[in-house]
Amino acid sequence: MIDCSVDAITMKLSPGLGTNRRLRTFLACSTVGLAIAGLTPHALTQPASQSNHPSNAQLADPRIEARVDRLLRQMTLEEKIGQLVQYNDTGDESPAAAAGAQTPADRQNVIVAINPVTANHIDAMNLAATGQLGSMLNTVGAQRTNTYQHLAVEKSRLHIPLLFGADVIHGFRTIYPVPLGLAATWDTELVVDLAHMSAEEATTAGVRWFYSPMVDISRDPRWGRTTEGAGEDPYLGAAMARAYIRGYQGDDLSQPGRVAASVKHFAAYGAAEAGREYNTTDMSETTLRQIYLPPYKAAVEAGAATIMSAFNSLNGVPSSANPFLLTRILRGEWGFDGFVVSDYTSIMELINHGIALDPATATRKAITAGVDVDMMSHFYDTQLPALIRSGQVPMSVVDEAVRRVLRVKFATGLFEHPYAEGTEVTAAVDAHRPLVRKAAEESLVLLQNDKIADGAPLLPLSPDRKKIALIGPLADDTAEMVGAWGGAGHDRDTITVHQAFEERAKQTGGELVYEKGTEIEEGSRAGFPAAIEAAKSADAVILALGESGSMSGEAGSRAYLDLPGNQQQLLEAIVATGKPVVLLVFSGRPLVLDWAQKHVSAIMEAWFPGTEAGHAIADVLYGDVSPSGKLPMSFPRAVGQEPLYYNQFPTGRPATGLDLSKPPGGDSRFFSRFIDVPNSALFPFGYGLSYSTFAYRDVKVSKTSIPLAQALANRSTPFVEATATVTNTGSRTATEVVQCYVRNLGASIEQPVRSLAGFERVTLAPGESKQVSFRLGFNELSFYDIDAKPTIEATNYTVWIGGSSLADESATFKVVPSAQSAAVH
Ligand code: BGC
Repeated sequence: MIDCSVDAITMKLSPGLGTNRRLRTFLACSTVGLAIAGLTPHALTQPASQSNHPSNAQLADPRIEARVDRLLRQMTLEEKIGQLVQYNDTGDESPAAAAGAQTPADRQNVIVAINPVTANHIDAMNLAATGQLGSMLNTVGAQRTNTYQHLAVEKSRLHIPLLFGADVIHGFRTIYPVPLGLAATWDTELVVDLAHMSAEEATTAGVRWFYSPMVDISRDPRWGRTTEGAGEDPYLGAAMARAYIRGYQGDDLSQPGRVAASVKHFAAYGAAEAGREYNTTDMSETTLRQIYLPPYKAAVEAGAATIMSAFNSLNGVPSSANPFLLTRILRGEWGFDGFVVSDYTSIMELINHGIALDPATATRKAITAGVDVDMMSHFYDTQLPALIRSGQVPMSVVDEAVRRVLRVKFATGLFEHPYAEGTEVTAAVDAHRPLVRKAAEESLVLLQNDKIADGAPLLPLSPDRKKIALIGPLADDTAEMVGAWGGAGHDRDTITVHQAFEERAKQTGGELVYEKGTEIEEGSRAGFPAAIEAAKSADAVILALGESGSMSGEAGSRAYLDLPGNQQQLLEAIVATGKPVVLLVFSGRPLVLDWAQKHVSAIMEAWFPGTEAGHAIADVLYGDVSPSGKLPMSFPRAVGQEPLYYNQFPTGRPATGLDLSKPPGGDSRFFSRFIDVPNSALFPFGYGLSYSTFAYRDVKVSKTSIPLAQALANRSTPFVEATATVTNTGSRTATEVVQCYVRNLGASIEQPVRSLAGFERVTLAPGESKQVSFRLGFNELSFYDIDAKPTIEATNYTVWIGGSSLADESATFKVVPSAQSAAVH
């Protein structure tokens, strides 16, 4: 029996990765809701259109299926259910030592167990040895994983290996920028390489499955998990999703150094109302399909082996019991061959959502909706036996879930290579440092770079500025450089800005003075005077301010988006010295930088850059590398603008052409606007400066008129090409992210004012020009109609090509009615 008596909130440390910064809270199951829902309505589980293609050819391989069949035939009900059960070891002690303990009671003592293991009397070792455990989470390290694996492979009747999953989100030991920062690179090949690198590191510690990538679109930076995804745009999000899958899984999951990906959190978790963690999402099906689903779909099409069902409810149905999402769309329409794992205790949370009055109902709803593996709820193992015996859950449903898990286990080669192999990576790898340094360099976004007294922009720092004052609570904090999911990275491996600037000062004979000034969140002003003195004595100030890593990530929602603690006051005091100031902003989300934008000469968004943070920042501030990052999310002027995103709908009263910096007067009131702040972002999506400048001209389209039948004829062949010439008009070689946006006017459903439809990183020498082209077809130009079907209609399109979502060089074309204009669905 599960213990539902505890009414309080149970706090536990998240074992495994990132334990230093993550506290989990989960609600005990006694807080029950009101509603109980019946069996899944047939219509919801039936796909609108059935995919004929396997999403992952390896998982669909008949040879694997034959092995699955053979094994399944031998399995008892308990062994089958075991494959659907996931726990961690929760051990602080070495499991090898624990394995030596004689009795279960002894083992409990050795494995300093943390809820739910103690609360639920789970002995993960015993479960592994008896075939009642299928996978483990955040149980990391060659010794730890091998200990459990030996039990599963050698002691259990059928010798089925465990799959070890972990939250390796932006690096295992060698840490690269948080995913939002990585998205700012717009460099998908780089993401492939980084993802592969982290898989190579983590597999040496027994991890064969990453709970990554998080592909949730986030349009509201109050949501802390914004830091874990690629930001607000579906096109960029989909490109990043594909890149992670390629990097993790390669072409063959069984190859050494490859891991199965778990795409999360399905679905639309990023639309949590008010950005409040675990909160409800509610949206139209067209918005779901057009904005939120594309990155998950792209990941599935790229062959993702697993998906994680989200905590949130979507339009009233919790994602972890949502047949519309998990069966109709994911399996029916997208042909997903992998398995679905619940998020942490999300099956238990169905009771809190109010759609199940008891664990049995929650279990039935989750598994019949399509959740194959229960992460930590302790429901599948306790509830499924009776549910199957009573016929409430058909055996075929369990068999299918087990098949899906076994397919992934066979495909990953776990049966042949169950143990961690090779030398375990236990620290940042020197050979990987150049790659994470490059990633950190590319992730930096130069938001402002004003000319100062001598007529030149403040950045890159001129060698004449011999004495630098480095100030701020984030200037020398190794732990804070890695962000919310620092994998198993060590603080001691991380280079801070202070360290990197000291190295530079030694090389160049420059002088560096460092003052912390204040704390991130609860600083007194005691450090202000020394910081102000340091600034006054210097030729330029670098001010490293922002959030701590744990202010974003899971359960890191914020209602205020300004600099925390008294950092704003420190900023104002330093600016008041009159010295040139570079503001380095560390954050897991867009912050409100309104004051800084008006008063600070140079602003650089640094996100959380990872192990090589300091070096990368110094490289860019000193001009060895020109910044090339572009924002993957809009930076607001005020929190009240949120959710703020560039691809918004036009409204019937657009405020086009009005001066929104002034309160409304005369005829300017009755428009879609605020009376106290402009509508626009302070720094828009796609924006980012370089040390060079770029000009765009000759934006053209290959055709101005396309018959509708042609546009609908072939979904994979582009039918119009948009081109532009981009020129480096500055005096140094630099990289620009060229972006292509489209607008569709005249469709049966209102369409966004513009949508990203392509991008390319282009490196140009001074004076050099290049013609950049974007091939547009169904993927880029279609939309979801009132029946939530993708289509193209006879409408007008505008295409812009430029350096941000404000690109103003455009061309137009039309899709015109034709004889065969029937929509293809
Ligand atoms: C998070 C997931 C994570 C899981 C396992 C959950 O709380 O939402 O993103 O993968 O824990 O640690």
